[in-house]
Amino acid sequence: MRRGSGQAGDPAAAGQQGEPAISSPSATTWLVAWHGDLAAWLDRLGWLRTMSDWLTAVLGPVRERHQDNLVVELLHGGRWVGHPLHPALSDLPIGLWTGVMVLDATDRGAASRRGMDAAGMLSAAGILAAGATALTGLTDWTVSNDQERRVGLFHGLLNTVALGLQGASLGTRVAGHRGTARALGAASLAVTAAAGYLGGHLVFTKGVMVSRVAWAIEPRRWSRVLQEADLPDESPAAVVAEGRQIMLYRHRGTLYAIDNICSHAGGLLSRGPVADLTVTCPLHGSRFALADGRVSRGPASQPQPVLPTRIRNGWIEVRGSQPAPRRPAKGRTQP
Ligand code: FES
Repeated sequence: MRRGSGQAGDPAAAGQQGEPAISSPSATTWLVAWHGDLAAWLDRLGWLRTMSDWLTAVLGPVRERHQDNLVVELLHGGRWVGHPLHPALSDLPIGLWTGVMVLDATDRGAASRRGMDAAGMLSAAGILAAGATALTGLTDWTVSNDQERRVGLFHGLLNTVALGLQGASLGTRVAGHRGTARALGAASLAVTAAAGYLGGHLVFTKGVMVSRVAWAIEPRRWSRVLQEADLPDESPAAVVAEGRQIMLYRHRGTLYAIDNICSHAGGLLSRGPVADLTVTCPLHGSRFALADGRVSRGPASQPQPVLPTRIRNGWIEVRGSQPAPRRPAKGRTQP
């Protein structure tokens, strides 16, 4: 077979130019933009906004009242787990209900058989797991913000519908209506998948419950940030070094520097109160030790980076957590 050179004037290349386009530009655009459009559409739903505001007004104060409760912190995942708990738990109902589908697809038994079978067991276990997953999701939802809150609410509503469908599927299965049970189970899994997609949007697109300081490494060298005389004792100050926002604090002559962006959802720590060398985030109340960034109360599950400090010629200097490699001295050869 003769191969074309791909250059102008080559008959093979000329023939390719005449072929129709595989897809129109608008279809191509839609294929890559629909998820963003979907989130924007959800955000414009008036009833969702109203419902979100109402739930926030009801649940917000309840959470604040109980934010010292260890169970509430554990529902977030918090400092003991080191990650949010909700995404891990959400795998359980998805996996168990997928198992129901597989068993149903391979079951050759009578369609009117009554009672629990293996698929029913999986369905029931998934329902229990979904209850626990919903509880952790609701707890995380109370500490989310703005658009994330509305998309998160829609995600939760879809999951509630999926849970209802799965419950109906289990009921009809036990009653011996296997055909209806299978259809309801399939519908439940489809709605769960849609809800899971929105959950993915919240994490991977919006960064919900993802550490906001995961990439904070600057400044790579000692950097002046504030004159020493401008930092009074026991009073937080916000400074910036190479674009990184840092909170400074001085207590009895000892300087502390900690990332100013809260690892949980980006609250500015310098605007929160400090007591016993622990700063409280003004957004959702996470607490971090100034000395080592340790979390002493969630919802944050990741410690806050701390930065080394020093005073040179009347200036406070800080350095990032990953200092730049030393430059090789002139004239010295690299190994
Ligand atoms: S932003 Fe949520 S606790 Fe700080």
